[in-house]
Amino acid sequence: MTSSSPTARPEVLALRTSQIREVANVGMARKDILKFWVGESDQPTPAFIREAAARALLAGETYYTHNLGREDLREALSAYLQRLHGQPFAIERLGIASAGVNALMLVSQAVISPGDRVVVTAPAWPNIVEIPRILSARLQTVSLDRAQGRWRLDLDRLMDALTPDTKALFLNSPNNPTGWTLPAEDRAVILERCRRYGIWLIGDDVYERLIFGPPSGVMGRSAPSFLPLAGDDERVISTNSFSKAWRMTGWRMGWMVLPRSLTEAMGVVVEYNTSCAPDFIQSGAIAALNDGEPSIAALRAELAAAKDQVVGALRQMPGVEAPEPEGGMYAFFRIEGVTDSVALAKALIDKAGIGLAPGSAFGPEGQGWLRWCFANRPETNAAGLERLAGYLKG
Ligand SMILES: Cc1ncc(COP(=O)(O)O)c(C=O)c1O
Repeated sequence: MTSSSPTARPEVLALRTSQIREVANVGMARKDILKFWVGESDQPTPAFIREAAARALLAGETYYTHNLGREDLREALSAYLQRLHGQPFAIERLGIASAGVNALMLVSQAVISPGDRVVVTAPAWPNIVEIPRILSARLQTVSLDRAQGRWRLDLDRLMDALTPDTKALFLNSPNNPTGWTLPAEDRAVILERCRRYGIWLIGDDVYERLIFGPPSGVMGRSAPSFLPLAGDDERVISTNSFSKAWRMTGWRMGWMVLPRSLTEAMGVVVEYNTSCAPDFIQSGAIAALNDGEPSIAALRAELAAAKDQVVGALRQMPGVEAPEPEGGMYAFFRIEGVTDSVALAKALIDKAGIGLAPGSAFGPEGQGWLRWCFANRPETNAAGLERLAGYLKG
């Protein structure tokens, strides 16, 4: 490639390519591989949601909608958020996005300028780090660490990173890949610091319904959220998705809770990205919000059992460290002596027939680690565990 080759701008060329994909490419076509590398349930979307969208499609709901989503969907979302967090959320604060990753991009485009300093905890889902980079932001990561078999965030280190010139803090709790979940009592100090320096506090809350510990939301069904603590016109944003809690990964539906004075501008940003979310898909989302609680409760129970199964078995294996995830759908673990996650993930495909995500895909902080998505039938997880144990025995 010469300097005049027609290629992308430097910020795009500098993006990390996905190491999960690098590993998946090795085993994707092989039928004999048990695949645990993607973050999704092995079960399809609940039937009542599929039926609602199918009915809407057949009824001709095939038009453009409002930039911020149909009003009936935003009303259903407002009612859902009130049930979850115990306080009203005006529909003037809500925007529908084409999935969680799109919500993160929209929010980033709306508030981050080139050169802005952005803080993210690490290990982190790659998109949270790379989206600000596409927009030419400067990234500062704060590493999670471990104590008593759990991940934790050292608040002093986070405070040191939240300097007066910081534009935004992205906080993903429960966290992908570690399962770390922000303790409720840590919220006030983080919010106070963000208020003091005018820092945007952006919660990536896609796993908030998938928690294993003592439930701490007002209704006892959500991980601790900043939404109930913040006023309706502060620099606090929540991005969320239908993908995980409603098993709707292929639908590409998500949402944003915004300060009132940002919403109108956000509509403009949506216009120049996707213009709106698909019409009939929004009808599926309404059904999900209105009638989804039993299926979320069932998924949460399945995930809690799968977590005990996978993390429990990993801990029995020699040389394996597997901290306890508090939420999400992943076991993040390491094997003594391993320093190259990608090499190990490729060897596990070749020699053991199991596909795991390499920890280094989540930043240098994850080097040497592996991520196992356990949102599978117990027999699938059991078969994978048996193969891993066999590989480790040599
Ligand atoms: C932390 C985190 N945020 C956001 C998303 C976005 O999911 P989606 O774009 O499917 O809504 C994911 C998906 O894996 C995730 O792990």
